[in-house]
Amino acid sequence: MTVFDEKQTLLFADMGRIFEFFSYDLESTLERFVESASHIQHFDEYAFVVTTHKGEIKVFLSDGLSLPKNNDEVKFSDFYPGDEAMYLVDEVDEKCCNIIFAPSGKIRSYVTIPLITQNELTGLFILGSKKKSGFDSELQDIFFSLGSFFAVAVENIRHFERSQDRMKVIISLQTSQQAIASAMELDKILAKVSEESLRTLGAECAAIYLKSGFEWHRHIFRSRIPAISPPDVVAHADLPIPISSALERTDVVFISKSDFDDLGAFRFSARPGSLVIVPLRLENTLSGFVILESSTFDSERLYLTQLFAGQVQVIFSNALLVKGLREKTAELEEKNKLIREYAESLQKSHDMLENRVKELSTLHDVSSALVSITDIDELLHFILDRACSVMRSDKGSLLLLDGDELKARCVRGNFGPSEIKFKLGDGIAGQVAKTGQSKIIENVLTNPKFKHIQEKECEREETMIAVPLLIDNRVIGVLNVDRELKFGVFTPDDERLLTSLASAAAEALARAQHILDLRNMNLETLEAFAMAVDTKDAYTHGHSRRVSYLSIQIANKLRLSSEEIEVIARAALLHDIGKIGISNTILFKQGRLTPEEYDIMKAHVIWGENILKPIKSLKEEAYLVRHHHECWNGQGYPDKLKGEEIPIGAAIISVSDAYDTMTSDRPYRRSIDREAALKELQKYNGTQFNPLVVGAFMMLVQQKDFSLDSTGANLREEIIGS
Ligand SMILES: [Fe+2]
Repeated sequence: MTVFDEKQTLLFADMGRIFEFFSYDLESTLERFVESASHIQHFDEYAFVVTTHKGEIKVFLSDGLSLPKNNDEVKFSDFYPGDEAMYLVDEVDEKCCNIIFAPSGKIRSYVTIPLITQNELTGLFILGSKKKSGFDSELQDIFFSLGSFFAVAVENIRHFERSQDRMKVIISLQTSQQAIASAMELDKILAKVSEESLRTLGAECAAIYLKSGFEWHRHIFRSRIPAISPPDVVAHADLPIPISSALERTDVVFISKSDFDDLGAFRFSARPGSLVIVPLRLENTLSGFVILESSTFDSERLYLTQLFAGQVQVIFSNALLVKGLREKTAELEEKNKLIREYAESLQKSHDMLENRVKELSTLHDVSSALVSITDIDELLHFILDRACSVMRSDKGSLLLLDGDELKARCVRGNFGPSEIKFKLGDGIAGQVAKTGQSKIIENVLTNPKFKHIQEKECEREETMIAVPLLIDNRVIGVLNVDRELKFGVFTPDDERLLTSLASAAAEALARAQHILDLRNMNLETLEAFAMAVDTKDAYTHGHSRRVSYLSIQIANKLRLSSEEIEVIARAALLHDIGKIGISNTILFKQGRLTPEEYDIMKAHVIWGENILKPIKSLKEEAYLVRHHHECWNGQGYPDKLKGEEIPIGAAIISVSDAYDTMTSDRPYRRSIDREAALKELQKYNGTQFNPLVVGAFMMLVQQKDFSLDSTGANLREEIIGS
């Protein structure tokens, strides 16, 4: 039976307490062991040397000791030659300075207890005494057991710290992954990958290469050490063998120091440590790689790097897909944009063409209409109406130049009661007339030229356009159009359209004036003919003009058209032109005409027709002249037409002729007075005369404003104004 002595019993009791108070803190665990050791053996000082989970050597000393060297340079061999279960030094050699007790000079003997777990030396526990031979070699077994316990405790702490570190790094990796994944753009992802490689994995340098065509291009280079700068070469057609063979694999590849000489420009620092290659693939195709360089890549770091690389590969692959999609989207968007622009340009062209067609169509309609209007007043109103309509306006004026003054001949909308007129050069219209240049006023209320309007506190804001009416570059008038500003300011397109309209209008006005001049000239000629007939017979002087005058009044009363009235007026003027061919003997014979003479007299209607017929423009007049002696009852001549067969114009001339003949002296009889003549007309109403015409004449003579005394002196105005 094994019997434990007192020290052994104490030790086992302490071991139990150690496990009871087991802590993951190295320092407090050490304190427990120091206490336990003190129960077994007296000692004056102690030292505790241990490798941490990071492989660093850490030294703990009692208060009376200090290290002769820097912590970094401490080695186990400084305190422990190796292999023995316990290393005992009975008398410290003063010359030996490799141990921590020697320099103090107070420690005379010491014992080193190795801490060994799984055949690995993980630390040393050293106890020192101020006495020579202060330790008993027989305590070896007890110290060894103590050391084994201590070693297990230390190893547990190392595991715990390693796990904690790994946990921290994994959390850090997770943060890195989030940071990398949050960057959507490939360039930003690559930048994040390199930054996180330095921060989380503790790499000293990180570079990322991507394949572009047949070359590898360096996109990113980062270093924690300022002295390390990126290699000059950015693009590589070929990769060094250690890297190209590493890239044939899919996982992270560690390149050992022995291969460093073959790395060329991929070797970043002058004092290289380890190199890790992370291939970046998209759908099994190698697209790039990350190189991490560090002097402290251990197996733990490599494991974390593998985790990190896995995340980076997934993120990179996604980013490449996103990039590809984005490029395709951008390409599609670009194409869409082009199509949209093309469509917009087509639409613009179409709108422009449509507007142009509308303009041309409007101009064509207006021009066609303008050709058919020969009356100047009608023309002026038509032009202004169309200008307002085309310009979507409710207000406008048409002014014609009279000397050096512009006078409104036609207005639309509210201009107030005063007459609109401008001196040449005054106001916008005056300026347009003076310069011959059109003008757009964007807002009449804010234009200094319109103070007179602004003073009247106009209720609405207006825009205005004024264009000249030009004939052979000579201004004959100005066309103004105004509209409410809310419908938009007049544009250069509006100006162009209105200018074209004004040009057509000016031509039409000139044509109408020309036609008016021609009609006047025509009438002058006809009057001269009539005068020639009338002059032949002193008694019938002015007869034709009076008949024409009366005929116009009757035709007006019967509401005949202006064209019909003009024909009747001209026919009346020429009704007796055939008498030119009758000899004075018959014409001026006093007394009754013989039947033969009467036949000759009657023939004047045929001769009159024959004289006028060759003149194409007097064809209708010739017809009326032929029938102006027909009777309602069919007893007239030359064709014995009856009732409605007789043209109304001829019937009107017949009544006018009869009235004027009865009220004028003739060679063969004296004239009768007005009342007697009217009675005669009524007497033969319905036999010789058309009742409708006689009725109109009777109504006419009862009108207060009608005078039977008119000589027809203003006949041309009567005819043209009819
Ligand atoms: Fe006659």
